[in-house]
Amino acid sequence: MTKLKWGMIGGGEGSQIGPAHRLGALADGHFEFTAGALDHRPDVGRDYAQRLGIAADRAYGDWTEMLAGEKNRDDRIDLVTVATPNATHFEITKSFLEAGFNVLCEKPMTMTVEEGEEIVKVAEKSGKICAVNYCYSAYPMVRQARAMVRAGEIGKVRLVVTNFSHGHHGDATDADNPRVRWRYDPAMAGVSGQFADCGIHALHMASFISDDKVETLSADFASTIPSRELEDDAMVNFRMQGGTVGRLWTSSVAIGRQHGFDIQVFGETGGLRWASEQPNQLIYTPVGGRTQVIEKGEGGLYEDAQRLSRVAIAHPEGFPLAVANIYCDLADAIKGEVRDGLPGAADGVRSMAAVHTAVQSAKAGGAWLDARPSIFR
Ligand code: NAI
Repeated sequence: MTKLKWGMIGGGEGSQIGPAHRLGALADGHFEFTAGALDHRPDVGRDYAQRLGIAADRAYGDWTEMLAGEKNRDDRIDLVTVATPNATHFEITKSFLEAGFNVLCEKPMTMTVEEGEEIVKVAEKSGKICAVNYCYSAYPMVRQARAMVRAGEIGKVRLVVTNFSHGHHGDATDADNPRVRWRYDPAMAGVSGQFADCGIHALHMASFISDDKVETLSADFASTIPSRELEDDAMVNFRMQGGTVGRLWTSSVAIGRQHGFDIQVFGETGGLRWASEQPNQLIYTPVGGRTQVIEKGEGGLYEDAQRLSRVAIAHPEGFPLAVANIYCDLADAIKGEVRDGLPGAADGVRSMAAVHTAVQSAKAGGAWLDARPSIFR
């Protein structure tokens, strides 16, 4: 099998998400790591890329150098991952799409709705893939949940309740730590803190499993550590186009919660529950029946859940292999088999519209507002 060529921008040594991309992209043999501009410090990035096995002439100092170097090569990369801080995503993603590269962009895809809409148009015009790394949606048991909803196993979805709440920014004495502080500084993070950082994963998941789109929302934001300009806690109520009621809580000051991302989907004939800290189990209760634990790797799962699981029942796969599932779907899409579950630019701009609408709603005392980007109204 000829491997596809993969490059990454950002994700340098010591970064949070870089290792998950490297493990994910290389896990199944679809890609080889060919090029990179991995760090905001050119020399550090070049050095690290070479230590990871990238040839010296493709270990770039910054993304503009990488774009110039790659675009005229016959053996140019097939896919570039953008894993830099948020404010740079738009410019890098747009430039690579325009130059004819497939892109996997980290979330949030852009800082504004207008930028997001532009990415949707640029991606369409280029004919290239623009995926967004909503990697939780690629866990096998999340794909199983979506397939069960689609097959009518819980009937029409009435209610989705989701949390993405942790306590890792809950120590007021650590609020000035530079790695924490920027997330609540509008100059670095944009209009929203915790909702844009973690809440959008939960919102995407609600849409993904219930197979519906957010239409309106009402938000309540709080900066529970008063020095923070942006919110560290948010409660967002929403309604979906199909009438589903949505409730979302996201927090970074929920001390004691480690990676508290979970979702419950309640339909007319059953309910489903999934949690990122127990990702191999999907809890299913048919109305009037017994609660069942559906295990990753067991027989009878839907095709997507089977296809995206590598190891036998009861062996955990976990976060890097959920990211790997995004790369599996990308490899298929690059080869011409587009996978329905792969999150794309449309998901990215819907998230940005939800973020900006939530900010407006919170400022207006929780007013219910249209949360759709204008291109999807
Ligand atoms: P980080 O601060 O830990 O690492 C950022 C890396 O990018 C560093 O290596 C830095 O040197 C490099 N970098 C910065 N500017 C650059 C530039 N202009 N060119 C090349 N490299 C540059 O940040 P972290 O937490 O890894 O986040 C990166 C992105 O990934 C963010 O957009 C974040 O929202 C997203 N993320 C997504 C997650 C997911 O579950 N999908 C989880 C964690 C982060």
